Amino acid sequence: MSEPAGAVLEVRDLHRQFGGVRAVNGASFEIPPGQITGLIGPNGAGKSTVLNVIAGALRPSAGEISYRGQDITGLPPYKVARRGIIRTFQISSEFAALTVLENLLVAAPFPRGEALWQAALGKRYWRPHERKMVERARQLLARFDMSAKEDEYAGNLSGGQKRLLELMRGLMASPALLLLDEPMAGVNPSLARRIEQHLLDLRDEGLTMLMIEHELAVVERLCDPVIVMAQGRVISQGTMAEVRADREVLDAYLIG
Ligand SMILES: Nc1ncnc2c1ncn2[C@@H]1O[C@H](COP(=O)(O)OP(=O)(O)OP(=O)(O)O)[C@@H](O)[C@H]1O
Ligand SMILES: [Mg+2]
Repeated sequence: MSEPAGAVLEVRDLHRQFGGVRAVNGASFEIPPGQITGLIGPNGAGKSTVLNVIAGALRPSAGEISYRGQDITGLPPYKVARRGIIRTFQISSEFAALTVLENLLVAAPFPRGEALWQAALGKRYWRPHERKMVERARQLLARFDMSAKEDEYAGNLSGGQKRLLELMRGLMASPALLLLDEPMAGVNPSLARRIEQHLLDLRDEGLTMLMIEHELAVVERLCDPVIVMAQGRVISQGTMAEVRADREVLDAYLIG
């Protein structure tokens, strides 16, 4: 919406090895603003590793990542998050022994530029921020129809509700770019449809997303640009119709 023209994120010739495994082996792509870009490809293609490297959870072996024209390669996760890039996990990452509300509060960032020791200065200093974050958490709970679960232990939620919590935890930081690792994995079809609609609404509000997704029908409904990876490389990109017609993509899916 108010994004500058051109790509929000640029990934150039990214590599990441684990011992002898070349998980990402020269991937380059761009993420346009205000859309949901799909990242697809067979198991082990390197999709989650790409997300981890963008989010700063893993350092790249080589390559560059720039966000809004600034180099963010190798920054630690909290610095990447402070710039507005937030990721969600393929396996839900909630704290089972905390309530749903508490899970949202611990996902909230500290106010910009402030450190833990400042938060430790005391409640008087800290309380206005906390109040704001509780308010934000409750807005998200209402939006995702989860208000009734506010005081439930996250460990007691259903698999689908945990995926919703994962998404809400990502949104607590008010991201500008949300990286989603299979947000609907293992969710029943009706909840998956609801999550799809939430993602479309977030997009319409201007949120830029990069989404890993296995279900091609979902990608077709949600994503405009699609990036296809296989064996650590980007083998095709374009609209879903374009990549569907790509022989190399068909081969990658058939061979796996
Ligand atoms: N921490 C790690 N240590 C060692 N090898 C890893 C690690 N993470 C990923 N790999 C390997 O890197 C390759 C790419 O894994 P990655 O998880 O990025 O694939 P993916 O495309 O997300 O697959 P899936 O669709 O199954 O989630 C795989 O061969 C995987 O075994
Ligand atoms: Mg993965």
